[in-house]
Amino acid sequence: MLNIVIFGAPGSGKGTQSERIVAKYGINHISTGDVLRGEIKGGTELGKLAKSYIDEGQLIPDELMIKILASVLDSFKDSKGVIFDGFPRTIPQAEALKKMLKERDQDITVMLDLEVPEEELMTRLILRGKESGRADDNEETIKKRLLVYHTQTAPLVDFYKTEGTYQYIKGIGTID
Ligand code: AP5
Ligand code: MG
Repeated sequence: MLNIVIFGAPGSGKGTQSERIVAKYGINHISTGDVLRGEIKGGTELGKLAKSYIDEGQLIPDELMIKILASVLDSFKDSKGVIFDGFPRTIPQAEALKKMLKERDQDITVMLDLEVPEEELMTRLILRGKESGRADDNEETIKKRLLVYHTQTAPLVDFYKTEGTYQYIKGIGTID
């Protein structure tokens, strides 16, 4: 089982690199952001709730997010492993993921931390906002997302260093 946490600030390339890793290793991909955007598109109750957080650049509450993650994980059959993109984002989420995997006799193989300078993140996301129309890719919301990343998500670096699975990756240069 190859279980990877792909980690980094908004715009660091988690989704982009996940696609490549999935193509190479044939593992499943969970992007919690994509799951939530799918719910918004489908107009579900969960989507309505998620939208109110995403549009403000805030995190969906842990308890709800952990339930969603568990149900996606359960939907994978005969999996060779999973790349977790956008989850965990808080210490309680990281602890829940560890427990969930342990219950399945698994663990996290590696956590890949994509490091990209803030100016470059802003440039990438504003550019994407023009093309993709993602509602949270505007300057004001990007700034909020970056703040949330620094205060609530960045502490996971120390969590995974303690776990012994932390790996720094330079997230700039060509996508290859
Ligand atoms: P989510 O969808 O996870 O967004 P994010 O973390 O803000 O990250 P992005 O998807 O914007 O960036 P990315 O790192 O995937 O980069 P990408 O490859 O796209 O979450 C959205 C929201 O959902 C959150 O704010 C929160 O509200 C909610 N949410 C999600 N998960 C949650 C959780 N676990 N708990 C609570 N709430 C949660 O690349 C970005 C751009 O850069 C692209 O245009 C790409 O083409 C380009 N690019 C990539 N690599 C390069 C490169 N090397 N050079 C130049 N350009 C590049
Ligand atoms: Mg993404």
